[in-house]
Amino acid sequence: MKTFYIETFGCQMNAHDSEKVIGTLVDQGYQQVLTPEAAELVFYNTCSIRDKAEQKVFHRLDQFKRDAKGKTFAVLGCVAQQEGEKIFEKAPHVSMVCGSASYNQLPQMLVQLEAGNRRVTGLSLDTDETFDTPMTRRDNPHRAYITIIEGCDKKCSYCVVPFTRGPERSRTSASVIAEAAQLAAMGYSEIQLLGQNVNSYRDPSPAGWDFAKLLDEVGRVAGIRRVRFTTSHPRDFVKPIIDAIDSNPSLCNHVHLPVQSGSTRMLDAMQRLYTREEYMQRIAWMKAARRPIAITSDIIVGFPGETEADFEATLGLLTEVEYDSVFAFKYSRRPNTPALALEDQIPEEEKARRLAIVQEHQRQIQIRRNAAYVGAIEECLVEGFNKATGQWIGRTSQYKTLNFLHPAAGEAFAGQSGSAGKSGLLGQYVDVRVTRSGANSLAGEYAG
Ligand code: 5AD
Ligand code: SF4
Repeated sequence: MKTFYIETFGCQMNAHDSEKVIGTLVDQGYQQVLTPEAAELVFYNTCSIRDKAEQKVFHRLDQFKRDAKGKTFAVLGCVAQQEGEKIFEKAPHVSMVCGSASYNQLPQMLVQLEAGNRRVTGLSLDTDETFDTPMTRRDNPHRAYITIIEGCDKKCSYCVVPFTRGPERSRTSASVIAEAAQLAAMGYSEIQLLGQNVNSYRDPSPAGWDFAKLLDEVGRVAGIRRVRFTTSHPRDFVKPIIDAIDSNPSLCNHVHLPVQSGSTRMLDAMQRLYTREEYMQRIAWMKAARRPIAITSDIIVGFPGETEADFEATLGLLTEVEYDSVFAFKYSRRPNTPALALEDQIPEEEKARRLAIVQEHQRQIQIRRNAAYVGAIEECLVEGFNKATGQWIGRTSQYKTLNFLHPAAGEAFAGQSGSAGKSGLLGQYVDVRVTRSGANSLAGEYAG
């Protein structure tokens, strides 16, 4: 039996790619093990969105540099695509380098490795294929990912993704709906639709569905109670998406709509293709929806040329939107990207200062916002149990964590060793009364 270990870095697209890679490997007769030490084949599915993410894989590989211990190493994902064969020079013990656009070729590449080939590559981006496999090994017992679109055709000036994941390719609506129905039959009640820019989804089949139509139809698949989607690009985020959320209760009332900056001048330099005003128009649609929609975002601070006034505009936008949560990042220079050549780079300490300010500013907003939930009853999908606190871990439709006490906490959990079981409350939908709130979560009591 050939054994493999895989470690995944980066976004949900990568996490889901790994689920598909694992399924493919198992189908080829490989057995997954939980440490690199125990494995003959070691896979790293990598991220290169920021320099720090990219460095992680080289740290991992360094650990085995002097003594590869008879193992075979494979680098997958965004660093693989970006660095290509240079990886063989930096880390000569690596035998395979493969970007996500070549995963369909994995079975053949494994055969080459088995045959003793020490330099196997899958680096072509010239594809109109998506990586569809019936063998996916899913990690989460309740929420399942479905990729609807791969690649990205936007050219944000800071971003490596168009270079690492290639051009946009949408799956047919029929294959997406069939996968959702199959997942429902397997007991999944929550689906998360994935893509670098789900809003530019275009059904390649004659049905010709756009994203709003696909979203609505996935929400109508029998047995599916919650549908989420990520990530959205504001430029392609149209009103019918909000109309679908308004009319279909299975669609979660949460939208992640990365803004990156509150300054139109910076948005222009980032080649984001919208102004602050156009972005705020999308926020206005959401605020006018019948159900309250949680809004989350990504922010980049310290983009080249960002002045104090630009930065203040971002803080002002956070105040105006009142996001439920924000991921903020220091700008990181990436290979191949247009912004690499820009003058007026912001010093590292200044980026760190701005990041800390954004984070504290947003924390205060979240404390205020979450406090408004105290007293409310929220439906939660029960995702776990915290033995240390005796609380169940629930997730609201708005994607807020709601920890709660249940009269039968101990007994309900007794006998379940991991969190994978479906017995007890896990995987159930329950009502919870919110009694306390913090910056990052809510707490409450079981209410039925
Ligand atoms: N530097 C910093 N942050 C970046 N992101 C993307 N590229 C960069 C970069 N070069 C952030 C964006 C994006 C999120 C996934 O990562 O905010 O929305
Ligand atoms: Fe990282 Fe972007 Fe690649 Fe996801 S698509 S793994 S975030 S570089």
